[in-house]
Amino acid sequence: MAELSSASPRDVVDQSERRWTYVVAGVVAFVFAVIVFSGVHWAAQPPSNVETIDASRLHLSGEFMEANLGTEVQPDGSAIVRVVAQQYSFVPQCIVVPAGTRVVFRVTSPDVVHGFLVAGTNVNSMVVPGFVAEVRTRFDKPGEHVMPCHEYCSVGHEGMWARVKVVDRSEFARAYGGQPRASCARQ
Ligand code: CUA
Repeated sequence: MAELSSASPRDVVDQSERRWTYVVAGVVAFVFAVIVFSGVHWAAQPPSNVETIDASRLHLSGEFMEANLGTEVQPDGSAIVRVVAQQYSFVPQCIVVPAGTRVVFRVTSPDVVHGFLVAGTNVNSMVVPGFVAEVRTRFDKPGEHVMPCHEYCSVGHEGMWARVKVVDRSEFARAYGGQPRASCARQ
């Protein structure tokens, strides 16, 4: 008590300001550590692919025609998955990929901005009409992931989602090997 009464109001203010500075510095350091951890641990990557496409002609010709959508296995065993995100669905509605190999998603939109996110993985990108979003990843274990649209794209937004089914490589070859562009959409 004696200490308190001898301190001038100004000292008390200085002291509490200093304490507050430490708290704020601690919070900033914590947030920074979380960003570094998630960046390194989850291999988070900014969607940095700048590749343009004519959004009004996607269905007429080229890479994003309907017959070319889905999973294309490359000679080296990796996979390219082409997806169209549109109001209010993804095509294909069910994406199937082999486990334990490199997977490249290429996604675009013919209408408005959508979101492309595969739950439980580092896949997370905006899908902007006029651009091709490209995300590289790898699924180590077989399983299912939900794939909701996470950018508000008008009234049907909350109903816009798809699934990603990861199957092991031999199962993939057996069940989907016959399809030039595989998907699990109609099964
Ligand atoms: Cu598409 Cu929200």
